[in-house]
Amino acid sequence: MGTLIAYSSRYGTSEKVAALLAERLEDVRVQNIVEEPDVKWETIDHVIVGSSIRMGTIQDEMKEWLARHEPHLLERPLALYLCAGTPTESERIRELEEAYRDTLREHAYFVEVVGSGYDFERMGFLDKAIVRMMAKQKESSLQLDDTKLNQLVEAAQTSERTRSENP
Ligand SMILES: Cc1cc2nc3c(=O)[nH]c(=O)nc-3n(C[C@H](O)[C@H](O)[C@H](O)COP(=O)(O)O)c2cc1C
Repeated sequence: MGTLIAYSSRYGTSEKVAALLAERLEDVRVQNIVEEPDVKWETIDHVIVGSSIRMGTIQDEMKEWLARHEPHLLERPLALYLCAGTPTESERIRELEEAYRDTLREHAYFVEVVGSGYDFERMGFLDKAIVRMMAKQKESSLQLDDTKLNQLVEAAQTSERTRSENP
């Protein structure tokens, strides 16, 4: 049994976070749910889900994946992270609520925005223009919140310990 880190990512930030978490946890399977939506649930006993916000919403594929797999997610320790520009505190909360429905947030041991990134090499013309205008960013950047990522890793390790003591 192991940990599933299931993510969707438009320009790679959520994917980088998934890889960073995987380096720090044991017995992890990292899965891009857009490319591989199916899960062998009988092999998974802990789940970390990550996605990103674009124009106020997460990827459609992630919304569908969460709805389809919700019963399995609710049966296991669950962490939910989000990558988002989130300029204000109220927007951060609104975006978390938009990304992950109440049932999942109430069940999860971690629900947080963990940072944002802008990869101008990968963005199309329209998205570059939106980022220049709205986020006032002109070049690629990665701003991850190390404190929150550490909290997530520590909580995940605790959750793993709890699971092995109470299988
Ligand atoms: C076109 C575009 C629109 C965005 N819209 C929002 C938004 O509405 N709210 C927000 O908090 N962040 C927004 N962001 C910031 C992204 O959430 C951030 O760049 C995130 O790290 C992207 O993660 P990803 O590379 O895994 O897709 C936007 C980014 C882009 C490129």
